[in-house]
Amino acid sequence: MILVTGGAGFIGGNFVLDWLAESDEAIVNLDALTYAGNLETLATLDGDRRHIFVHGDIRDRTLLDRLLATHRPRAIIHFAAESHVDRSIHGPEEFIRTNIEGTFILLEAARAYWDGLDAADRAAFRFHHVSTDEVYGSLAADDPPFTESHPNKPNSPYSASKAASDHLVRAWFHTYGLPVLTTHCSNNYGPFHFPEKLIPLTIVRALAGQPLPVYGDGMNVRDWLYVGDHCAAIRTTLERGTPGETYNIGGWNEQTNIDIVRAVCALLDELRPDPAGPRARLIGFVTDRPGHDRRYAIDARKIERELGWRPAETFATGIRKTVEWYLENPGWVANVQSGAYRDWVSRQYGASA
Ligand code: NAD
Ligand code: TYD
Repeated sequence: MILVTGGAGFIGGNFVLDWLAESDEAIVNLDALTYAGNLETLATLDGDRRHIFVHGDIRDRTLLDRLLATHRPRAIIHFAAESHVDRSIHGPEEFIRTNIEGTFILLEAARAYWDGLDAADRAAFRFHHVSTDEVYGSLAADDPPFTESHPNKPNSPYSASKAASDHLVRAWFHTYGLPVLTTHCSNNYGPFHFPEKLIPLTIVRALAGQPLPVYGDGMNVRDWLYVGDHCAAIRTTLERGTPGETYNIGGWNEQTNIDIVRAVCALLDELRPDPAGPRARLIGFVTDRPGHDRRYAIDARKIERELGWRPAETFATGIRKTVEWYLENPGWVANVQSGAYRDWVSRQYGASA
């Protein structure tokens, strides 16, 4: 069995669903159910004995020790984090607490558990740390994409906290020998994505006929990867990755924000035409994010060369699946748009948003 942290969030939730669709190996899923955690994402697993959900915090060492001793996982896949850059700008403290302190406590619990395993289980054990390309900082338009040896130059409280946690994971490998794997993935999109992030926010607001906020000049560039491809890359790395190594994961799909928003609008117009006219009319440029990274781009050749992973989806196929999923699941969207979500939207985009 494996232990997943943050498995009620966007990527962790997709990972749990994909894992159990492909394998009978059970999952213990530890999640604190912050605003970003949503058990409805896992509703199709109700009654499935292969999924053991535990409502708890990665900073609870007593709970971690008990879970590890009881379930004896062969691997930990660590997704749990505060993940939204804009929220980290408004309030960095939770990012330090969960992303840095939480990863430290989880590493210590993992180390104590791993120390007590027999030689074969110690050799087979893996601690997989799910990190981001944002730790590398920002690229100029003509810079080559980030490789794994690019220096860490994080610019937001979020990316700084993720870089700090990466460094702890690295140190636990070099100092204690804990068999760790770290992956740095680019921006994900897909089903069950909380509508505070660009793509689901655009879909949900466009369907509601609301203004579509694009920060600054809309020319910031991100590399976008379908979430199912990220989950497949993690499974591949877990199976074949070399402990102590880091692997970049990307979609070979750099796009400006304005192009992303226009692509989503065009798909919605095709799949659900708006009598009021094309959704692109809703696009508006708003005040830029402070310290907004200009460009991220991922060189994902190492994971392809060494582990044989490549994305299966193109942006065209992935974004179509994503928009269709949001059209087919209005109930999931309505439930995550709780009071707390509305408070965030008015704080970030103004009361009239
Ligand atoms: P998310 O915000 O959707 O989900 C995070 C999950 O972690 C939530 O279910 C939340 O309840 C849980 N959580 C938060 N604090 C916790 C704590 N203290 N203890 C236990 N659980 C806690 O995030 P996501 O987008 O699914 O990202 C998952 C991981 O992938 C993060 O580590 C993130 O840094 C990384 N990542 C995300 C992206 C992306 O595009 N979203 C890209 C690369 C890497
Ligand atoms: P986001 O989804 O928050 O991911 P990240 O900041 O981790 O890359 O944002 C993706 C890009 O979209 C980023 O350049 C900021 C921009 N953006 C907007 O232009 N408008 C928005 O309302 C949001 C949420 C993001």
